[in-house]
Amino acid sequence: MSKKVVLLQGGLGAERDVSLATGRAFAQALDELNYDYVIVEADANLPSALEKAKPDVALLALHGKYAEDGIVQGICEYLKIPYSGSGVLASSLCMDKVFSKAVLQQQGVLVASQQVLDMRYQSLDDFKLELEAPVVVKPSREGSSVGITICKTSEDVLPAIKEAAKYDYHVMIETFIPGFEVTVPILAGKALTPIEIRPKEGFYDYKNKYTKGNTEYLLPPSLPEPWIAHCQEVALKVSQICRLKTYGRIDFRVDPNGKPYVLEINTLPGCTETSLVPQSAKHDGIPFSEFVKILVDSASLDYQGVQ
Ligand SMILES: Nc1ncnc2c1ncn2[C@@H]1O[C@H](COP(=O)(O)OP(=O)(O)O)[C@@H](O)[C@H]1O
Ligand SMILES: [Mg+2]
Repeated sequence: MSKKVVLLQGGLGAERDVSLATGRAFAQALDELNYDYVIVEADANLPSALEKAKPDVALLALHGKYAEDGIVQGICEYLKIPYSGSGVLASSLCMDKVFSKAVLQQQGVLVASQQVLDMRYQSLDDFKLELEAPVVVKPSREGSSVGITICKTSEDVLPAIKEAAKYDYHVMIETFIPGFEVTVPILAGKALTPIEIRPKEGFYDYKNKYTKGNTEYLLPPSLPEPWIAHCQEVALKVSQICRLKTYGRIDFRVDPNGKPYVLEINTLPGCTETSLVPQSAKHDGIPFSEFVKILVDSASLDYQGVQ
């Protein structure tokens, strides 16, 4: 008998629409794989819906707040329902860009310099920019480029802080890393072929992420082979430091000298068939349905010993 799967989608955060797209793609793959599954909305009734469904596995088609951050993972742990993706600690750590960058830096991984503000206590009247423009201002715990502004001059920073603070009281200001953008998917302990991301205009913001034709994706990247191999090596190290399970995606900026700066770690990256991780998996010989099967088969709980 195949496993009974609950497909969790929707969610309470700003990335709800992206989650519904991932959910549709996962459902199609589960149909192809002949899994017995039900779709459950990850809303306020989630704990009781999960208890009622009594699945063998929860497949998480969720992104961002309340989902990619350990909260849904905690509910699954409590109900002892094995779930896809990373555990509670990895999910919370990677959702928090300030915290995860601090951990990576301590382990010798290159990250952009940052100034961190706690907007519960910081008055903008006595704010002083400690970094040189251009800088990037972002909420620490958000996704899909929501609340992010690239500030060419120091005058742009105050309004950008106010914008970022709408999404999180922890606001980070980061040195802008010129050069290239590369993302490295991780699957089953391996770094897949990276993808270079080239928005046709501006930066990789929400619109350029989700509007067809706005961004060019190069798989494999056009960058020198040793640069790419180095990004893969760093991505694998990052996935181990942050305790990623099964899959994830590490975003980088690569400077004009080929130095890769880790921007962030996505523990539940977008997974429609045309999303970055599935595209790279396909390029490396893993079709979408097989990719989804890997996620279902590797679903687990955090508190487990080793036989
Ligand atoms: N320090 C930086 N230098 C240059 N571009 C950046 C920097 N930080 C973010 N960006 C741009 O903003 C996008 C989103 O930033 P990221 O940190 O990956 O957050 P999100 O979780 O919203 O994807 C990146 O893909 C990149 O285009
Ligand atoms: Mg990103």
